[in-house]
Amino acid sequence: MKTWLSITFVCALILTLFSGCSTTAKSEDKTITMRLAHNQAETHPVHKSLVEFARLVEKKTNGSVKIKLYPNGQLGSEREVIELTQTGAVDFAKVSASALESFSPVYSLFSLPYLFDNRDHFYKVMKGPVAQDIYKTTTNVGFRGLTFYDAGTRNFYTKNKAIMKPADLKGLKIRVQPSATSIKMIELMGGSPTPMSFGEVYTALQQGVIDGSENNETALTDNNHGQVAKQYSYSEHAIVPDILIMNNKKWNELSQKQKQAITEAAKESTAFHKVVWEKAIDKATKEAKTKMNVTFNKVDKEPFKKAVEPLHKEFAKKKATARYYKEIRTEGTGN
Ligand code: GCU
Repeated sequence: MKTWLSITFVCALILTLFSGCSTTAKSEDKTITMRLAHNQAETHPVHKSLVEFARLVEKKTNGSVKIKLYPNGQLGSEREVIELTQTGAVDFAKVSASALESFSPVYSLFSLPYLFDNRDHFYKVMKGPVAQDIYKTTTNVGFRGLTFYDAGTRNFYTKNKAIMKPADLKGLKIRVQPSATSIKMIELMGGSPTPMSFGEVYTALQQGVIDGSENNETALTDNNHGQVAKQYSYSEHAIVPDILIMNNKKWNELSQKQKQAITEAAKESTAFHKVVWEKAIDKATKEAKTKMNVTFNKVDKEPFKKAVEPLHKEFAKKKATARYYKEIRTEGTGN
């Protein structure tokens, strides 16, 4: 797997250096074809929204900017495609905000459990100035955020033990994204965190390397985790957005009109995604129940919230997050 990924990485670099594909031309007369990488299947709602983004960009630039999608983690894990976006070997990537934590510490906020009270709170913040500020924090490391996509709420699922309270996690190896905040969250709740990239989770579950994971409902169906994990518990401990990032140099080389087109297309694809997402979650839940025999459990969230209070205290104080933490929390409803 690793060798294969290194080969694709090298190929992507060679493509960038020697093909006319990604261009540095500012002119709108030339057609620029840009690459967008992500790790979901073509059936996944986010892929559909990225197809819509590409369609809108092409339309709004009168065909001067085309975007080719590389789904399924073809170009590597989230960490790897972020690195490719830094160098410009790929132009865009859609990644989880959790994966961005090691590139800009402020992104750690999004992995903070119970940062958002609910979906409305999440949308209010993500459509506001805080998110716009955060998108710019990575321009010094080579890329910028363009927009966000709803990735639902993250909940625990295991092979056969329903997680009804933090104590149920004791002794269980729970896969988390490679994010220091997610690791701390599991430690505080009493489980054993096992960070790994998304593409490895299915096999790790199947082979018993991990006992469970945490994610939205589409992981059960689109990624087949429901074939192995039969207990899904609504701890709703995190609402982590997906973020669309773009190489900053390529951004700067675009004309004002092209920048405007990409900005609008990004925003419109987020609105498109909101609708697609709701339908996809309903479908995934029904399918997991009826076709995969997954049991969905309602849990009392209070003990989980209590367990992670020390993390909230830390985020309220830390230099990188204190200001935004306060702004986000004061917009909440407390529910
Ligand atoms: C979500 C998210 C992905 C991410 C995955 C994960 O599904 O949309 O971008 O890779 O979580 O847990 O790694």
